[in-house]
Amino acid sequence: MARKIVVTSGKGGVGKTTVAAYLSACLARKGERVVLCDADLGLNNVDVATGVENLVTYDLVDAIEGRCRAKQALVRHPDYVNLYVLTSSHSAPERYVSPQAIKVVLEALAPQFDYIIIDCPAGIDEGFHRAIATADEAIVVTTPQVSAIRDADKVITLLKSYRLKSVSLVVNKARGDLVLVKESLSPEEIVALLKTPLLGVIPEEYTIYGGAFTSPHPAFKMLATSLITGKKKVYDATRKYSGFFGGLRRILKRGL
Ligand SMILES: Nc1ncnc2c1ncn2[C@@H]1O[C@H](COP(=O)(O)OP(=O)(O)OP(=O)(O)O)[C@@H](O)[C@H]1O
Ligand SMILES: [Mg+2]
Repeated sequence: MARKIVVTSGKGGVGKTTVAAYLSACLARKGERVVLCDADLGLNNVDVATGVENLVTYDLVDAIEGRCRAKQALVRHPDYVNLYVLTSSHSAPERYVSPQAIKVVLEALAPQFDYIIIDCPAGIDEGFHRAIATADEAIVVTTPQVSAIRDADKVITLLKSYRLKSVSLVVNKARGDLVLVKESLSPEEIVALLKTPLLGVIPEEYTIYGGAFTSPHPAFKMLATSLITGKKKVYDATRKYSGFFGGLRRILKRGL
């Protein structure tokens, strides 16, 4: 039976979709059978993030409204045999979809998969509650920026009213170069503020926003391993900037 895990944040643009997509890809590459579900019905972009936008026949709302079966709405990813994308490409943003309706579709899929990763919309209104209500576990994504951490804190408080099995944290867009010169909070400092266990750290890298979906950054592989094993070994974003050559990289990065 699949673990149903929502990726949420409160603040927009911190990397929920990126983390959900690459995490799903890395889980799939490790042999786990994964559904990546786009629960951001208004500003859905999981299809584009995973590069399957031209392969979509049916989507989540088609499955909810009975135009297809849950399994027919899945797009098998051409590069990851175990990854299935449940898009919401066709969904009209004004359409009302209840949490229960999504839950029914995911419950139909759960017995045949190991993981269902749910991409949550930004904000804490209806779309947020709808996405959270379908999950058993949550990953809260934040960046080291104070505004993102504040929103993550609010979300973590809200999540306490859902009976989730676990809530963990991913620090995205970590800047190891700035942590070393104390111009950015470190993941450990963010954990201390949010009092939530750290599941992973993803650095801010061109290879993530400009990279190919088929070559995930090693930090996502570590995140997938942490999720599977429960042993939380996280990526060290400062390592690349330590030592003599690291110092040069730090100077070059600051110049960008
Ligand atoms: N670790 C990273 N390094 C560099 N760029 C990143 C990283 N993570 C995400 N991005 C970029 O940041 C932007 C926002 O990411 P993404 O769409 O995943 O955020 P989101 O939280 O899902 O946004 P929304 O709230 O609008 O749904 C994208 O351009 C993405 O490529
Ligand atoms: Mg998103």
